[in-house]
Amino acid sequence: MKNKKNYLTPGPRTKCIHTSGPEDPWRALTPPLYQTSTFTFPDFDQVDRVLKGEEEGFVYGRMGNPTTERFETLVSELEGGEKTRAFASGMGAISAILIHLTKSRPEMAFPKVLYGGTRAFIEKYLIPQGCLIHWFDPREEGWGEELSRRLSPKTAAVFAETPSNPVMTVIDLGRLSGIAKSAGVPLVVDNTFATPILQKPLALGADIVVHSATKYLGGHGDLLGGTVTGNASLMERLSFEEGSYLGATLSPFHSWLLLRGMKTLPLRMEAHCRGAMNIAEFLSHHPMVKSVHYPGLPGDPGHKVAALQMKGFGGMLSFSLGDDQKARKVASRLEFFKIAVSLGDPESLIEHPASLSHRQMSPEGRMALGIDPGFLRVSVGLEDPEDLILDLKRALEA
Ligand SMILES: Cc1ncc(COP(=O)(O)O)c(C=O)c1O
Repeated sequence: MKNKKNYLTPGPRTKCIHTSGPEDPWRALTPPLYQTSTFTFPDFDQVDRVLKGEEEGFVYGRMGNPTTERFETLVSELEGGEKTRAFASGMGAISAILIHLTKSRPEMAFPKVLYGGTRAFIEKYLIPQGCLIHWFDPREEGWGEELSRRLSPKTAAVFAETPSNPVMTVIDLGRLSGIAKSAGVPLVVDNTFATPILQKPLALGADIVVHSATKYLGGHGDLLGGTVTGNASLMERLSFEEGSYLGATLSPFHSWLLLRGMKTLPLRMEAHCRGAMNIAEFLSHHPMVKSVHYPGLPGDPGHKVAALQMKGFGGMLSFSLGDDQKARKVASRLEFFKIAVSLGDPESLIEHPASLSHRQMSPEGRMALGIDPGFLRVSVGLEDPEDLILDLKRALEA
């Protein structure tokens, strides 16, 4: 908090409310929204000073904006990183950092369990551009040794997402960062599901953290956004190169909405975690449910690692009803869970990957990821958990 009296080390709730940025001349309680595409100068001497970095200032909205910078500073403070660059969506952020890293080294390593959009970017952009992909499967014994063997000075980065979308695989970030470090390869972590409130990848050894800010950071289902956080020199290069010239700039209004949404991020995460735990427990005892994937359940394969590297188990879970007709019917009968992709909103959302997010994949491809025909993914919202459980019970038993 660079403009605050530094006699306190604020906690995440305080940081999210008392954000850092330029003093507003009118001392407005809420951060001002600089809804402008460009910035003016009284003369060219000031242009020179701003462009030489001798004076703080903004030139053009694609390069930076004070409202967006306030949001970026907050994300850096929460993640414990030096600098953040905001983007127009999570994919804007992920594509920019992957393009940046693969400019100098032609190989990358990815886990098989990964958000479908990231996988599509690999298949539709990185591979056609000549990037060699090393896939590893963190669900298999010996994945660490296998990954170590594949890394070399040609590897641009190891990428990971934990818990992963939609199968909720937990990856041991301490172990993964050790493997990446001993090969001299940076580790990029997608922290969308956990948020910096529940998990801090940089403290666990990662070099770069990305987010779909569309999800929990925004938290109200009313915007798209993304972030990349890392060391200052890398982030300055990313901002100046892909940040400015690929054009996926976060709008000032969405930055302002993000600042508003993030005031309640720590409180919302507590409620999402509590609701998801209650629902996971209910589902795990229901006779119609074949399997439940939630790292908060003691029997979950990711539980031990999640309990060590996360402060809470998050608001996402998935479960299977065995066959696809049952899954589609049960989801359609629900009242409070809306059928929709996306996640992290106050409203509970449910989706059937075989019908929606992973529809383009073959059934065999889905099965290899752990998505069987009856698999449903749930984003537990902020409603009363008892209402959500009654809704699920009614839909399952109708
Ligand atoms: C884990 C994860 N990363 C990245 C993204 C992409 O974010 P966006 O939709 O904001 O581009 C998503 C979207 O669902 C996601 O779930």
